[in-house]
Amino acid sequence: MGARIRPLRELAGFMDKFVIRGGNPLVGSIRVSGAKNSALACMAAPILTDEEVILENIPQVRDIETERKLLAAMGAEVELGYGRAQHRTTINCRALTKPVAEYEIVKTMRASALVLGPLVARSGWARVSMPGGCAIGARPIDQHIKGLEKMGVTIAQEHGYLVARTERLKGAHIVFDLITVTGTEDLLMAAVLAEGETIMENCAREPEVTDLATLLAAMGAKIEGAGTSTMRVQGVTRLHGARHRINPDRIEAGTLLAAGAITGGDLTVTNCNVAHLGAPIAKLQEMGVRVEVLGSDSVRVRGDGALHAADISTEEYPGFPTDMQGQFMALATQAEGVSLIKENIFENRFMHVQELVRMGANIKIDSRTAARVHGPAKLSAAAVMCSDLRASASLVLAALVADGESILDRVYHMDRGYERIEEKLRGVGAQIRRMGNIFAPRDVEMVAR
Ligand code: EPZ
Repeated sequence: MGARIRPLRELAGFMDKFVIRGGNPLVGSIRVSGAKNSALACMAAPILTDEEVILENIPQVRDIETERKLLAAMGAEVELGYGRAQHRTTINCRALTKPVAEYEIVKTMRASALVLGPLVARSGWARVSMPGGCAIGARPIDQHIKGLEKMGVTIAQEHGYLVARTERLKGAHIVFDLITVTGTEDLLMAAVLAEGETIMENCAREPEVTDLATLLAAMGAKIEGAGTSTMRVQGVTRLHGARHRINPDRIEAGTLLAAGAITGGDLTVTNCNVAHLGAPIAKLQEMGVRVEVLGSDSVRVRGDGALHAADISTEEYPGFPTDMQGQFMALATQAEGVSLIKENIFENRFMHVQELVRMGANIKIDSRTAARVHGPAKLSAAAVMCSDLRASASLVLAALVADGESILDRVYHMDRGYERIEEKLRGVGAQIRRMGNIFAPRDVEMVAR
């Protein structure tokens, strides 16, 4: 297929790079934005009603714009504003007439699969592109499909799409074979309008699931057990509009705390939810970072002491988050000793390792999911390539402490989930700037995974 030429404005940002000169300790305070992964799930919930839903504390990141496009293509009215006071989206699906999620959009954001359950619940049918794999793994959605089939949905695969149909969604007893965040969210959004009771066991307990359940309850859904591994839902016949404030982003908060630590700084992270940061805070303390909880929404880190190696094993919430593995691996390169890092959630989430090694890190990969970090290693600036959202964050942290000026390519990955990150970091002393490439190749088919 010939490369489709995109208007230059769409490529703007795709070819951007970060230029980071390491060595400055981060000092001051940084405000955390709303949680991208909460917002993506909550933006699908308005599909379940014809009334207006207002979501506040929406992060200004690329994935949110992608979901806006996805909903608008179905016929939903989506306003998205980031004025000083805003960071708000207003979504009305009254005119949603086309329950279809096109490949062109889904291929740039796997979380689009989140619309499958709500679309079937609303329209009785849906045609959603299969998400395909991504850099960190195959990421199948078999659990989404299995759960919907138990609820009376027939699902066929046609030309790369899932075509789902049902006469009436029925409550079911669903036991997930494995813990899946968006699988839990997708089926929860189907269950709230299903006939009768749905019991879901082995659910994900991530705060993003709880945030979605809070919104659905505000819309009139009847849900018990959100945030635990068993949820019980009484289906209702209709839901109404609501206004909801999105949780602060716990992954951004953990990333910033690690940035304060790796640079030997004195950084306070505000507007976060400390209750969601148990595992990362405990790991920072184990590594010798001074952590002070200043209140329910702010944490101070001081990285002025020596860092000690610590083992990390990623688990589902409330365990250590896989979305912070790369960032803490970067931190571990500066710690005295050997840190064993186990990635238990995704099968290919070490894409940042070779780039860190090119910067001078001493990391040995034992298997696709286990690595040993020998520290401390003096990092030197290099030109490196971002491969996915959280690997990008890992490379930013390494560049902040590396000797010299690093160039990070393909920062569009970072732009998917971190709002104005270079401005936030510059505001506390980082030497970081964005280098746009205005002569982006005109006929490059860019697929931002
Ligand atoms: C969510 O992805 C997050 N994305 C991910 O964040 C996060 O890394 C992940 O949960 C784990 O916490 C959003 O919420 C939009 P899973 P999700 O289903 O739901 C396997 C980021 O950086 N699996 O919990 O897609 C799957 O392959 C992103 O912000 C199946 O086998 O992850 C994985 O190995 C990256 N079959 C494991 O389960 C299924 O049907 C956990 O995946 C579903 C999942």
